[in-house]
Amino acid sequence: MKWSIHHKSITASTNIDALAGNHGDVFTADFQTEGKGRLDHVWHSSDGKNLIMSVVLNVEEISPQRISTFPLVAGLAVAQGCEKLLNISFGRCLKWPNDVLINERKLSGILCRLNGNLLIVGIGVNVNETVFPDDIVATSIKNLSQSANDIQLKHIRDIILQELGRLYDKWTSHGLAGILKDIKNRDYLKGRVLLLRQTDDDASPVSGLCEGISNDGAIIINGRTFYAGEANILKCPLA
Ligand code: BTN
Repeated sequence: MKWSIHHKSITASTNIDALAGNHGDVFTADFQTEGKGRLDHVWHSSDGKNLIMSVVLNVEEISPQRISTFPLVAGLAVAQGCEKLLNISFGRCLKWPNDVLINERKLSGILCRLNGNLLIVGIGVNVNETVFPDDIVATSIKNLSQSANDIQLKHIRDIILQELGRLYDKWTSHGLAGILKDIKNRDYLKGRVLLLRQTDDDASPVSGLCEGISNDGAIIINGRTFYAGEANILKCPLA
């Protein structure tokens, strides 16, 4: 995969910049004035400290159901990239549908948006930020690293893009099939009791035991599958 990098020191949101992009374009910034998270949350990131990027991918031939699984693929790319950089294994770090958590703290968040035939994959990774506001339960690569030195953002960007390109190729050809084992091995929610708020406003929240991620990327709670929503842990009976 050949990536074209477009960098700004300051922007509103790289996900907005990416609306003007084509397949293979990557929009990065040192700082966002309107960084966007899921469910209208704000994505905070101090100037120049962290990886902020939005990747544009062609999804013309892909079904909507398969497209909805891409946050998991992007999460896997982030997890594998960071694991390579740090030379450690994160274990169960993928919180369906779009977070990478280490030691219960958020390392990365992913926000995908469809723009016609193009998927904008917004990825925020906490890299050199070491102290977070009290209301943000987060960690960073630097917090997880043995070294006191800052990590070069371009270095982690390129490692993650390499993983993302490789996984995107597999996913376009075979869907989740070729990478399901890697996703399931990292499933953070399996075995925990959850409250799932469904993104459809009319649907009521669902609680129950999470049985893991299904072969088509949904979450299974009490035998029912859900393709979208926000999961919060109520308790962890298997811990
Ligand atoms: C979340 O966890 O809620 C998703 C966070 C996504 C943040 C990234 S940073 C790069 C891109 N630009 C944005 O405004 N948001 C995404």
